[in-house]
Amino acid sequence: MSSRAIRRVSFAKLSVAGFVLVALLTTAFMLRMGRGEAMPATPTQEPTRQAADPGIESSVEELLGKMTLQEKLQQIQLIPDWQATDEQARNGVGSVFSLVDPTTINHLQHVAVEESRLHIPILFAYDTIHGFRTIFPIPLGAASSFDPSVASDDHRIGARESAAVGLKQIYSPMVDVSHEPRWGRIAEAGGEDPYLNSVFAAARVKAAQGTDYSAPDKVVTSVKHFAAYGQPEGGRDYNTTDMSEQRLRNIYLPPFKAAIDAGADTAMCSFNAINGVPGCANRYLETDVLKGEWGFDGFIESDYTAVAELRACPAKTPDEGPCGHGVAADGPEAGALALNAGTDSEMVSTFIRDYGVQLLAEGRISMERIDDAVRRILRVKFRAGLFENPYVDPAKADAAQMLPDAVAAARKAASRSMVLLKNEGGLLPLNSARKTAVIGPLAKSGHDMLGPWWGRGRDEDAITVYDGIKAQSPGATYTQGCELSHKDPPDYDPAQDCVISKQALAKVNAAARSADQVVLALGETREMSGEAATRSEIDLPGMQQQLIQAIQKTGKPFVVVLFNGRPLTLEKVAAQSPAILEAWFPGVQAGHAVADVVFGEVNPGGKLPVSFPRRVGQVPIYYNHEPTGRPCDPGVKWCSRYRDIPSCDPLYEFGYGLSYTTFDISNLQLSSSSVAKDGSVTASVDVTNTGGRKGDEVVQLYIHDPVASISQPVRRLRGFERVTLEPGEKRTVTFTLDRSDVGFYDNRGKFVVEPGRIDVYAGNSSKAELKQSFTVTG
Ligand code: BGC
Repeated sequence: MSSRAIRRVSFAKLSVAGFVLVALLTTAFMLRMGRGEAMPATPTQEPTRQAADPGIESSVEELLGKMTLQEKLQQIQLIPDWQATDEQARNGVGSVFSLVDPTTINHLQHVAVEESRLHIPILFAYDTIHGFRTIFPIPLGAASSFDPSVASDDHRIGARESAAVGLKQIYSPMVDVSHEPRWGRIAEAGGEDPYLNSVFAAARVKAAQGTDYSAPDKVVTSVKHFAAYGQPEGGRDYNTTDMSEQRLRNIYLPPFKAAIDAGADTAMCSFNAINGVPGCANRYLETDVLKGEWGFDGFIESDYTAVAELRACPAKTPDEGPCGHGVAADGPEAGALALNAGTDSEMVSTFIRDYGVQLLAEGRISMERIDDAVRRILRVKFRAGLFENPYVDPAKADAAQMLPDAVAAARKAASRSMVLLKNEGGLLPLNSARKTAVIGPLAKSGHDMLGPWWGRGRDEDAITVYDGIKAQSPGATYTQGCELSHKDPPDYDPAQDCVISKQALAKVNAAARSADQVVLALGETREMSGEAATRSEIDLPGMQQQLIQAIQKTGKPFVVVLFNGRPLTLEKVAAQSPAILEAWFPGVQAGHAVADVVFGEVNPGGKLPVSFPRRVGQVPIYYNHEPTGRPCDPGVKWCSRYRDIPSCDPLYEFGYGLSYTTFDISNLQLSSSSVAKDGSVTASVDVTNTGGRKGDEVVQLYIHDPVASISQPVRRLRGFERVTLEPGEKRTVTFTLDRSDVGFYDNRGKFVVEPGRIDVYAGNSSKAELKQSFTVTG
């Protein structure tokens, strides 16, 4: 018998024993509890959605009753800044996006309110993703803080600055869970975990909207991209997605539900198709789930030309333009499909507006559905207070931007978002009194610090790394080393990126040798992440690794500070660098925040919200994966491993991050060893600062359901708390677990709570080792 055959036999034996055991347990536990209930596995406490206001509802009905079909179709139309004319406003166009000049906004609003027949104000929208003018860390960075107040500050200030120019809707939060680091848009949300994304989504919505988004410094949020846009095949933006119902509901939908429960009153349907059905033609998701199950009474706008993209290519004249999904033959069919699916507002393309009369006459759309869409749009406009206060004061707009409290919050957010990946021999923090050489292609870039979706952020507002370091370590020097390309393909040539000339290398060496310590600023340009910015390699672009090698050879202590919008493959960087600080794209206060952390003013406490693979071939790699019948073991052939990677793990796992002090997490205790399916159990755990410096630790709680009707992820984050402790200080952190935590969605889309054992893990990363168990009883 060959060894392969032997291995097969032993696996077969194991499988038989396993099956018998599982069959017994399954029979005992087959009584599924809670089937049919749509209880969300989200961390929001009490839903905060506004209940329908009878006054607003009757105003909506009254207005709707006066509208002609044309006027209704105009409300459904959402146009970009470059199409926004007085004529559009006069005709009663519903919404305009990307216009940011308060004088123009005010002017168009005057035309709409004073010159359109029914005086309906326009809803002005913008992509305020991580700041309007005061740019905060990219959302992936903010999620690394494991501190929802970072997201709240970001969206509170983003709303204030946006509203000051006359905007009343923001296309945020972006909550697409993603296991795809090649995808550039992983930068825009909270990473690979549904729970963390849900907490941050709710925080962003509540901060931007407040309890009443008609307030002058509040805006309505639009949660996007509905849904599962974060999992495009091959990581290529806009690409197709195919997934099971359970995965959709357990991993991708919870942050949307959290945002809706927190009050998000608009949503954006996505470009991608799920199981062959594009987001903006997806009746199941838009109408059945979002509006039906979740009780969403706001409106859904399409993503940019997403309605046009429903058509087969080539698009027929006279409507040319984007096409491709091939679920509609032409523009009228695309418009009908989108509207009938539940899309209420069409962005950029104009098929519902242009063909609405014809489609209605042909019975392909109904007046009922048109009224429903318009009702939703008007409801949001009334709730936004636009009828009472349609105008903005352009004279005051500038005075609301980059206020001292905003800048201070951005600095704090940036330093709280940084993750210390490596710190050999306690090299960091550096001593600011010593001479510091700041080296690297990102060392003096304000532009890149803002990251993708920089809103109205200005390069010159951004504090560069060099400026930040110099402010705390006078006498610091700057050497670029090489220049990163800001071009897009086909003009971008990866082989020519950041090429280091001999002279440049000599300067780098000289700068390092004449200093006591080096801060090496490396990473990606801001153009390398965000929309339409997929990479097939996710290492340091260009010849940046050679800069590390050069500095290493000088023997000077150095830290690599990374700026990037996605997990990178850092095996080589880690092998050649004593210290690595992941700074993401930190925003407008980048340099100060880097200096705060590097010199120890701030003790880093961020944790990774996404796994960092060793090699790109491991993608997708994520901590919350389902188990397999042959779990990975690098030393065993017939199991789920790579033959060319001697590890089953990512280089840095979800939840990982170091500090300048040390912590001990111990004494995990459960309030009960068994709990009824509707009950709850409390988990408490002690955390002690065992080092000599004040610092932050993120205590993380994971669960695993070892025997369930469908395989459950090996770990699922269900609680976290970032605590600040003085040296020697101890804190007990408690978490409550209930049915929303232990239950899951099955493949019929039902939320089930099954009896049986639940394992609870606590620690400071997804590798948490403290373990206790309790039993869910029928
Ligand atoms: C993006 C959206 C964005 C919209 C409007 C699209 O290309 O996918 O996230 O909100 O443009 O700018």
